[in-house]
Formats: sequence, structure tokens, C-alpha cells
Amino acid sequence: MENVTAGIDFGTTNSSIIVLKNGVHRYGDSENETLPSVVAINKENGRVICGKDALSLLEKEDNDFEVFRSIKSVLDDRDKTFEIANKIWTPEDIAEQIFIKLKQTVYERSNREYNVNKAVVAIPVNFSPEKRRILRRAAERAGIEVKSFITESTAAFIANYKSTKGSTITVVFDWGGGTLDVSVIEYNHGTISELATRGKKFAGNDIDEKIARKLHSITEDKYKLHLNFDDLSDAVQNRMLRRCESAKIQLSENECAKTFPIKYGDYGQIQIDGNIISRTWLSNLLEEDINKISECLMESLRIAKQNIYNVDKIILTGGSCKLKTIQDKMVSKYGKDKIIIPQDSSWDVTLGAAILSCVDYDIQIGTKVSLVLHDGSECPILTENTFLPYRKKYCFGILDTTKQARFVFGGDPDINRLEDKYRVLDVKCENFLEEQIILDVYIDEDLMFIAKANSNFYIYNNPENAYTVFEYPHLKFKYRIDLDHVKY
Ligand SMILES: Nc1ncnc2c1ncn2[C@@H]1O[C@H](COP(=O)(O)OP(=O)(O)OP(=O)(O)O)[C@@H](O)[C@H]1O
Ligand SMILES: [Mg+2]
Repeated sequence: MENVTAGIDFGTTNSSIIVLKNGVHRYGDSENETLPSVVAINKENGRVICGKDALSLLEKEDNDFEVFRSIKSVLDDRDKTFEIANKIWTPEDIAEQIFIKLKQTVYERSNREYNVNKAVVAIPVNFSPEKRRILRRAAERAGIEVKSFITESTAAFIANYKSTKGSTITVVFDWGGGTLDVSVIEYNHGTISELATRGKKFAGNDIDEKIARKLHSITEDKYKLHLNFDDLSDAVQNRMLRRCESAKIQLSENECAKTFPIKYGDYGQIQIDGNIISRTWLSNLLEEDINKISECLMESLRIAKQNIYNVDKIILTGGSCKLKTIQDKMVSKYGKDKIIIPQDSSWDVTLGAAILSCVDYDIQIGTKVSLVLHDGSECPILTENTFLPYRKKYCFGILDTTKQARFVFGGDPDINRLEDKYRVLDVKCENFLEEQIILDVYIDEDLMFIAKANSNFYIYNNPENAYTVFEYPHLKFKYRIDLDHVKY
């Protein structure tokens, strides 16, 4: 058995793992299919099932299992704890099961040759500090040390690098089940620079729900059911969502979906006419959402200080980019020549993370962080192009008699856009003119900018809660990596 480092996409809907060792070894539900991110836990004995088998249990009435999907969306929700088989389960415990399943799958399918003990794990653009820490712990409890995180859409760029060759500016549009993640990438002499990254929460799961609610209201009207969608049992809702997802997927190949029955609890079986769910019907239903989603591209370009004429390629990846209506919109807006629709898009993010897991590279910071001074001017504390690892200490004096010193962060347009309360760090102090405030700034292992501060007097009198901390997860990075000579 050999310890290996892998790339992992822990997706809202699908997860997968790739090991690069004398070729690309893909592991999900099979070599061709990713693993549905669904975990089922037996209510009696706590036995765990992951993937496709767990997914099929979602629709069952009188289930012996508690079934969890899209756990990534609620990783940091402290109210989501569940008592099952005399054990309290948190979202972290459930996420851990997906990592365990991925690790086990590699071990078994490689004939016990590969033991994944480290990985590069891809995460969405707006993944919160808490979610990062929970995901890292979940992986580590499953025996996988997180070597690094990478933004999902940037990982997808690395995977598709060859098809963008000769391009300077590429926009990656990764639209999955839980989030849309956009990276504007500049590729220059072996440096991949994230010029802008942007995320939105509307994705495949929301589309399924929108279709389900609309179909329900049509059905309710027609059969006079007097039943709200929210009052349907979980099993009926899940069945409806699954049928709607499948109808949506059929529309990438066909004009209309197949007719299907829905079991409406006490009302029995009701036939949904597939002709209702046509491409045009779906395009109309999603028109506003698709406009907002495609607007995200222009917003990212504005932040990146680029215009659409500078963009060489736009990569449409992630399951939801298979929707005809988004593809048609992008082609009509930006022209066919710019658009790349990868063949094997389900594995893009995982492959990008896997490439990063097995090559040497340097990381530089692509975000400027400053302190905003009282007259509006800025004092730089983290400059662009600084190499990781990075840590610095600054010492400030106090000019006024005060019980509180306040640092205001700025510099990067993304930080400047934050509401005031999200970009300040208040430090308690003791009102001494000779008092010193120490500001300790660094980039931590979860790729966040951390600023910790304390006063030398206050720490002396209150040793327990001496530090106040500012965390900023939305950094951009530059990867110096020789993609032309990557061998696997
Ligand atoms: N042909 C298709 N047409 C439309 N939607 C599709 C198609 N195939 C898959 N999807 C949708 O894509 C979504 C899953 O995509 P993907 O596997 O990229 O998500 P994920 O990586 O798990 O989620 P995220 O990246 O948001 O965490 C699901 O909502 C699924 O219904
Ligand atoms: Mg994804």
C-alpha cells in the first residue's frame, strides 16, 4: 500500500476524487460517474450508506434511514444536529462520511494499492471561514490531511488549461447544484492569476425546486388538491424534486420531458404531462434567474477591470451549465468562438485539484489589504504578489484617550464593498498613552487573511480574552505553475 495525494471535489450534489499516478484514476460511484453527495444513516443501528444507494432511499416512505443531501450548504448551521441511533450527528460528521467513502473507494478499487492520506480540496468562492474549518476537520477525521484548498472555478481552469492555450484572459463559469462560481483568470508565462472571483447561491437545487413548485401549483389547480407544496411529506417533496431534476436533465437532449407519475400521498398517483415541461417552458420559468446568473459574468469582469473584448475564452462547466438555456444565452451574447463546453465537465474541478496535488508550485497573493486611516488614506499591510507563507507583526500607538482602538480594513475592491461592520477590528485598550497595540497578520492554512490584535496593557489585565480577530476569506491568488510540463 502506498500513501498518495489526491484531488477532491466535495460537491453539493456530487463528489469525486482523482489520483494522478501513471495516468488519471477517477473514483466516484464508478469510473464514469461521480458519487452523489448523499448520506443515509440507519435509524436503528447507525449503519451508513453513501452515494447512489443513499440517493434512492430519499424517496422512500417509512424509511429505516435518515437521509441527508446537500450537506455542504449547511455545514456551518449549528441548529442542524440530529439524534440517530443514540448518537448526535452534526453536518461535520455527515461530511466526514463522504470523505470516508471516497477514501475507501480509492483503496478498494485500486486493489488496496492507494491510501489517500492527503488532498487538495476544491471549495466555492464564498465559502465561509467556519465552513472551511469544518470541511478540513471532516476530511482529517476521515484520515485525509487537507494539503490546500483551491477555488472550484480556478481548479476547473487548471483542468481545461490545454483547451485555452494561447489565451490570456479566460472566464470560468462553474455552475453546480449549490453554487455558481466564477473565476476571471489571466494566464501569463506560467502564472495563473485570479483577477476576480465571484459566487452566487442560485444553482441546480434551486432550479429543481422552482420547477417542482410550479408543477405543483399547476397540478393543484387542475385537480383542486388544496395542498401547499410545503405541506407535502418529505418523501413526496423529494420524489417531486427528483422527477423534476430528471425532466430538467432530459431537456438538454429533447424538446420535451417524458410524462411521469407523481404519488401525492392520500391523493394517489397523478400523471404529469411531459409536454408541459418543454425547453421553452423552462426557459420562460428561469428567464429572470438566467439573466442574473449571466450578469455575474459582467460583474466579475468589472471587478477584474476587463471588458468582454479582452476575454479570449469562456468555459461553461458544472452540471447546471448543461442547461440549453444558459448555453444559448452565452453563445448569443458572446459568440460561439469564445465558448468552451468541456466534454467531461463532471470531473473538471476534481482534475484541477488533483493536478495541483501532484506538482510543485508557488502561491502569490492577488489581493491588496490596507488599513484605512482617519483621513481616508490607506496604509498597506499586505501587498499584491507577496509569496506564501506570509506573516507580519505591526505595532501601533494610541493618540487619544480611549477604551477602544479600531482598525478599518480596505485596499481590495472586494473589501471596500463590505459593509462597515464586516471590515473592522475593535481592540479593547486601557487608556494609556504609552500603550501599544500589536497587529499580527498572516494567511492561514485555510487561505484566509487573519488579523489578530491586542493591547499590551489589556492582555496583561485580561489574559483570557486578549485577542480580537478579523478573518477575510475572499482572497485572490496567483499560482506559479508549469502546466505545460505537468506529467501524470
Ligand atoms: N443535463 C443537465 N441539464 C441541466 N442540469 C443538469 C444536467 N446534468 C446535471 N445537471 C444539474 O447539475 C447539478 C450538479 O452539478 P455538479 O455535479 O457540477 O454540482 P456540484 O459540484 O455537486 O455542486 P456545487 O459545485 O454547487 O457544490 C445538479 O443540480 C443537476 O441537476
Ligand atoms: Mg461543483
